[in-house]
Amino acid sequence: MTHRVLSTRGELPGGGLARLGSEVELVSWAGTGRPEAEELAELAAGVDAILALGNDSVDAGLLAAAGPALRVVGLASMGYDAVDQRAAADRGVVVTHTPGVLAETTADLAFALALMARRRLGSARDALHAGQWDAFRMHDHLGLDVFGATLGLVGYGQIGRAVARRAAGFGMRVLHHDPFAPEDDGLSWAADFPTLLAESDIVSLHVPLTESTRGLIGAEELRAMKPTATVVNTSRGGVVDEAALLAALRDGVIHSAGLDVFEREPRGTDVADLVEQSRLVALPHVGSATEATRAAMVDLAVDNILAVLSGRPARTPLPG
Ligand code: DGY
Repeated sequence: MTHRVLSTRGELPGGGLARLGSEVELVSWAGTGRPEAEELAELAAGVDAILALGNDSVDAGLLAAAGPALRVVGLASMGYDAVDQRAAADRGVVVTHTPGVLAETTADLAFALALMARRRLGSARDALHAGQWDAFRMHDHLGLDVFGATLGLVGYGQIGRAVARRAAGFGMRVLHHDPFAPEDDGLSWAADFPTLLAESDIVSLHVPLTESTRGLIGAEELRAMKPTATVVNTSRGGVVDEAALLAALRDGVIHSAGLDVFEREPRGTDVADLVEQSRLVALPHVGSATEATRAAMVDLAVDNILAVLSGRPARTPLPG
């Protein structure tokens, strides 16, 4: 019997979607932006699997709309905070994600944000584009060094470790805080959270968004950092209290921030206050955005879906 699979996008990088389409009956959302919940619910009726992105809401409503045939939701994403895991478990639906394949690419971006924010590269570039480079001045665009700084990694999984490997080349001292990785490992020293906040020049966030990490970096944590600290977030926006971060940047509590993710995405003009802070570098959630990595994410999601549909274990189910 041919399986029916909903892809929440009609086009995805790489060859994964075409491969899926050659093995199942594929139903895709035909729009270009982001599908409405009602559109997905309508398309989902009776499918055996759903291929979704990390920011698609896979909630109880979508799972119910799919109905009893649904066996697997394959996310082309490492993060799975938009999935109602309890509702999926209640229905016996396997949910998979894409760890591993995006760690190096996301680590590159965390480093890029640290460099941009500390070296004030965004405002330097803006000045050049605005025709303001009329002389070499010793005091223009002065930032802070990344080389030799102390890097504090909050969360020391695959991406945190990939950032630590890069830090070695920059002569950095690396600290990490992660209850699941309580040991020093030769690349990074394990630290308690207050020590990490107090001693780091760059605090880089690599935790999933859960009830215990929501708002992890708030006013108190920002005050506990050095006035020369930079916060880098490539994980999920909800890990940082944005209002507290805005106040901290405005009041000089910390030096700078580099954000690839926001509490609510995508953002419109309401984020202007935050992104217009000259010491904030903001990007539109591009951590994994290289051709090879996005293709690998889709491929892994497709592998997971095909495995479950053919009665084999998923390659990368959500952690238990
Ligand atoms: C991820 O994989 O979690 C990225 O943030 C893209 O969704």
